[in-house]
Amino acid sequence: MYSHLIDLNDYSVEQWNEIIKLARDIKSNPHIYEGACTGKIMGTLFYEPSTRTQMSFQSAMLRLGGGIIGFDNPQTSSIAKGENLKDTTKTVSGYSDIMVMRHHLEGAAKAAALTADCPVVNAGDGGHLHPTQTLTDLLTLTAEKRLTDLNIGVCGDLKNGRTVHSLVRALSKYEGNKFTFISTKALGLPEYIRKELIEGGAECADVSSIEEALLDLDVLYMTRIQKERFASDEEYERQKDVFVLNARKLKAAKKDLAVLHPLPRVDEITHEVDGDPRALYFKQANYGMYARMALILIILNYDGFKPKPLFEGESGGLKCANKRCIVNNEKGLKQSFVGGSDVLVCEYCEERVI
Ligand code: CP
Repeated sequence: MYSHLIDLNDYSVEQWNEIIKLARDIKSNPHIYEGACTGKIMGTLFYEPSTRTQMSFQSAMLRLGGGIIGFDNPQTSSIAKGENLKDTTKTVSGYSDIMVMRHHLEGAAKAAALTADCPVVNAGDGGHLHPTQTLTDLLTLTAEKRLTDLNIGVCGDLKNGRTVHSLVRALSKYEGNKFTFISTKALGLPEYIRKELIEGGAECADVSSIEEALLDLDVLYMTRIQKERFASDEEYERQKDVFVLNARKLKAAKKDLAVLHPLPRVDEITHEVDGDPRALYFKQANYGMYARMALILIILNYDGFKPKPLFEGESGGLKCANKRCIVNNEKGLKQSFVGGSDVLVCEYCEERVI
C-alpha cells in the first residue's frame, strides 16, 4: 500500500514526525541506508524550473542506490508535440516506482495521481502547495530550534508562495505557535488558509514591515516575490523590493532567531546576512535532501501510510474560477468541490467558490 503526497495533510502529524525522525537518522548514519532503494526508479517530471527540489530528490535517490529518469525541460519530451498531462504522467508512472512532479498549474500533481500507476509526490504546483519543502522546513526547525511555542514571522509573497501555504498549515498543528504575517495587502495570505489557522486556534497578526515584527520573533521565514505568478511586469515592479532583510535590521532581532528561506533568493536577504549564525537557509537546503531520502524510503518501503481518497467532493454544477487551476487547462478532468454551506473550495487548487 502506498500513498501519494499531494498536500502534507494527506499524512498525519505523527507521520510527519516519523519522516523527520527517519531523516535525522539518515543524516547521522548515512551508511545504513546506502542501497536501500537498489533496483527502484524515480521519475522526475519538472515542468517548471527548480534547483533544490529537483537535485535534492535526485541526490536522495542516488544516495539510496536507486535510479532516476525524467526531464527538467518539458520541451525535450513529447509534451512539445502536444501530449497532455494525463498521457505523460500515466506513461512515466509505468516506468517508475515513485514519480516526483513540479508543475506551473495548481492541482496538477493531484490530477496526475488520478491515473498514475505509482505514488506521486507534489514537488510544487503553481502558487498552491509545496509539501516536501515543508518537510524540509520542519526537519530544519526540529534539528536547529524546535517545533512548538514559536513566534513565527512569515515575510514576502504570501499570496503566491506555495512554500508558505504548506508551512503555516503544518506549523499550526504544533502547540503554541503564533504567526505574524509581514506582507502587502496585494500579497497577503489567502483567506482560506488564514481561516483554517484561526479555526485551528492559531494566533495570527499582520504587519507591514519587518522592523515591526522582528524584535519578538523566534523564526523569520523570508520568501521571494514570485515574479512568474504576476499578471504583468508593472504589477511585479510595484511589489518587488518592499521587504529586504539586512544586517542592520537583524541587529534588533533575538540572538537565537532562525532565519529561513526556501530559496531561491533574489534581493530579499542581502548577502552580508549569509555569514550571520542565525542565517540557516543553506543548511535548510541541505536538510531538504535528508527529508526527501526519508520520504522516498517511507513511500517505497513502508505499508503503514494509508492513502486518503483523492477526491471526496462533487461538482454540483459549479466551475472553478481559477485560470491557473489544472481543471481549467486539462481536458477530461471533472470539477470537484469540498467544504460546507459557508465555504466551498475546488479540490484541485483550493480556490474558494463560496
Ligand atoms: N525551494 C525550492 O523549491 O527551490 P527550487 O525552486 O530551486 O526547487
